[in-house]
Amino acid sequence: MLIPSRNPGFNHPHSSDITPRAAYEDRRQMLKLLAGGAAGAALASWAGREAMAQQAGAARPGKLAVLAGAKSGVAGAATMEKLTDYKDASTYNNFYEFGTDKADPARNAHTLKTTPWTVEIEGLVKKPGKYGIDDLLKLSAQEERIYRLRCVEGWSMVIPWVGYSLAELIKRVEPQGSAKYVEFVTLADKATMPYVGSRVLDWPYVEGLRLDEAMHPLTLLAFGMYGEVLPNQNGAPVRLVVPWKYGFKSAKSIVKIRFVEKEPGTAWNKAAKQEYGFYSNVNPEVDHPRWSQATERRIGEDGLFAKKRKTLMFNGYEAQVGQLYAGMDLKKFY
Ligand code: MTE
Repeated sequence: MLIPSRNPGFNHPHSSDITPRAAYEDRRQMLKLLAGGAAGAALASWAGREAMAQQAGAARPGKLAVLAGAKSGVAGAATMEKLTDYKDASTYNNFYEFGTDKADPARNAHTLKTTPWTVEIEGLVKKPGKYGIDDLLKLSAQEERIYRLRCVEGWSMVIPWVGYSLAELIKRVEPQGSAKYVEFVTLADKATMPYVGSRVLDWPYVEGLRLDEAMHPLTLLAFGMYGEVLPNQNGAPVRLVVPWKYGFKSAKSIVKIRFVEKEPGTAWNKAAKQEYGFYSNVNPEVDHPRWSQATERRIGEDGLFAKKRKTLMFNGYEAQVGQLYAGMDLKKFY
């Protein structure tokens, strides 16, 4: 089913391949800023988040200071596809710890306490340890990347994320030879997350990737979106974005990254094995048992005459990631 890549010498994409070159060139200046210098101080201080949030006033968590004043935080960003409005991206969410309705996370996630925050690296690595969020932020240069995110439910968004490739962190902690998978464990705190304890899912929400998927440069460890720190409902203070997989693989509010030998059980796979497999690659040719995955509705484009879009193989990232699945039966490994 998978069309083998014509380019056996596949190279990992650069950020210039992830977004159109023109947009990338335009943003270079900004990315440089994000990478350090003047921005360094602002980015480095996660504690400054609360202060920024207060300055911003209401629901928006505050700009990553470097971008304060830049128009919508995505100066010069141009993409072939229109960006989803910030409002839609931050009010139409799945974050079951805060409720199962799309509006629940925006309504309820203000109770999530994101400072202090630690991410623990454990399992089959030579350098396990605990990273405070400031250390994680400083670990590599932040980039803005515009990614499509396609939910298994049949809707999609186009979001400018801010973060860096998870591979940067993985290289730093040096996985042992026996590490084959990476497990992402997210916060499950009954005191601040009203639905933890409900029986909708087996908490904590856990996700997993094969090590090579986790190492792929498209896999993003994200701290922000639209040039601002992540709103709580989008997975503050740190989440994953795996753009060629259904949205549920993008674990929010991560507290542990564990390197393991065996394929880990994941939240949705445990909840409904026949419906949600481990791989969960966006694939228009493999239907969900209860609905087709061939088309999608772009959030913000709904209206009487809005046409559904065709869902693209690997969500449009086939050239970059197809090779990871060469020879695999994607109907079996859904
Ligand atoms: N992470 C946690 N911890 N809990 C969740 O319920 N939902 C997933 C994923 N990550 C979820 C999660 C699902 S189903 C989707 S579609 C995406 O987050 C939604 O991300 P967004 O709200 O930023 O669009």
